[in-house]
Amino acid sequence: MNPSALAELSSRLPALRLLTEPGDLEHYGRDWTRRWPPAPLAIALPASVEEVQGIVRWANQHKVAIVPSGGRTGLSGGAVAAQGELVLSLARMSRVLGFDAVDRTLTVQPGIALEAVQAAAREHGLIYPVDFAARGSCSIGGNIATNAGGIRVIRYGNTREWIAGLKVVAGNGELLDLNRALIKNSSGYDLRQLMIGSEGTLGIVVEATLRLTDPPPASQVMLLALPDMDALMQVFALFRARLSLQAFEFFTEVALKHVLGAGAQRAIEGDYPYYVVTEFDAVDERAQEMALAVFEQAVEQGLIADGVMAQSEAQAAALWRLREGITESLAVHRPYKNDISVRIGAVPGFLGQIQALLAREYPEMEVVWFGHIGDGNLHINVLKPASLSDADFITQCEHVTKLLADTLQRHGGSISAEHGIGLVKRAYLESTRSAAEIALMRGVKAVFDPNGILNPGKLLA
Ligand code: MLT
Ligand code: ZN
Repeated sequence: MNPSALAELSSRLPALRLLTEPGDLEHYGRDWTRRWPPAPLAIALPASVEEVQGIVRWANQHKVAIVPSGGRTGLSGGAVAAQGELVLSLARMSRVLGFDAVDRTLTVQPGIALEAVQAAAREHGLIYPVDFAARGSCSIGGNIATNAGGIRVIRYGNTREWIAGLKVVAGNGELLDLNRALIKNSSGYDLRQLMIGSEGTLGIVVEATLRLTDPPPASQVMLLALPDMDALMQVFALFRARLSLQAFEFFTEVALKHVLGAGAQRAIEGDYPYYVVTEFDAVDERAQEMALAVFEQAVEQGLIADGVMAQSEAQAAALWRLREGITESLAVHRPYKNDISVRIGAVPGFLGQIQALLAREYPEMEVVWFGHIGDGNLHINVLKPASLSDADFITQCEHVTKLLADTLQRHGGSISAEHGIGLVKRAYLESTRSAAEIALMRGVKAVFDPNGILNPGKLLA
């Protein structure tokens, strides 16, 4: 790049905040993957749509790659800037712009944290139902870019379901106003939906109108201990048929060991191979008795080995911590993350095959399983043994991911359920998408971003 180009950007947009200090480059150049040494050119912090457009036009002219950046809590390297890119951080565009009581929508800027969106919805007696543990740090723009899922998908679906309208700056700097928050719109291709999950490769979200909904009824949280995977799936079928589920999340005894080690409280004595944290509607005493009856039926059938029903909000939070604290408890072990999905019915077959494969090929490897089993979405975290170098560990993990990808292909699954492809899973896209699909994806990319300046190398090689 022409060295005077950055100075030209400043003179073009005199109010634009630009950071070039090493500490800032380090901070904004990486995401939670911590795998690529950050090396951005600079960090731009626009405060308006016009500034975003100005940056994109400038980048086209000077052929500078842009990495759109939100909370950088991503786990696939989608927000990594390791090759002299300009990081376009949306941190200064983080306001609530409006609430519409009739349409029940909230319009926000992209840099707002998920938790702040949830709080803003509650102020109006409504909820924004997408939820997951990184809620305090991740941004809504990043949630949209990855079609984020989380712990309530079983009830509410993914981010995709909750985006009524999007304003997006496309790769040529043009501002697109997509769907204008309409509920019904059969006037052709839904470009809004194309943007959701596109990982910043087609456009930069500069405004989002989110659908809100009624808060769920009073609920009950339970922790269950299960003897095996078949029992777990039978309990899932039983609970889903008889209760109105808000969440159904699983983890293994290995995951429990880590989360307890990080300070969470043990809720069930004794060790069991699998655990589930589930939350379901429990409007009154009758509903609670009904839940207890379902639980007892499963215990009598030998499907549940033990269980705890939360007796207070504090206890419910403590049970949830056993699931939500897993990611943080594993962070010290530098886990290599996998985030796969199969149809719910294919979970036991897939899991059985992959567990057998890993036990045969890598008997020493510590593998931690947890996730949104009620959505067919499993997180498989491989922990780095102290004895292995970083490079050898990555090579080993890539082989594990190849095994996963091949097994997934046989089960018709996806290599990324909710974290996105980014850099980490790019080599495995073919296991999930056909050559024809990938060719069409490249064509779409070329239409929205003709000079290939938006997050190049992420998602598509
Ligand atoms: C989760 O479900 O906890 C998140 O997707 C984060 C993770 O996979 O570690
Ligand atoms: Zn998850």
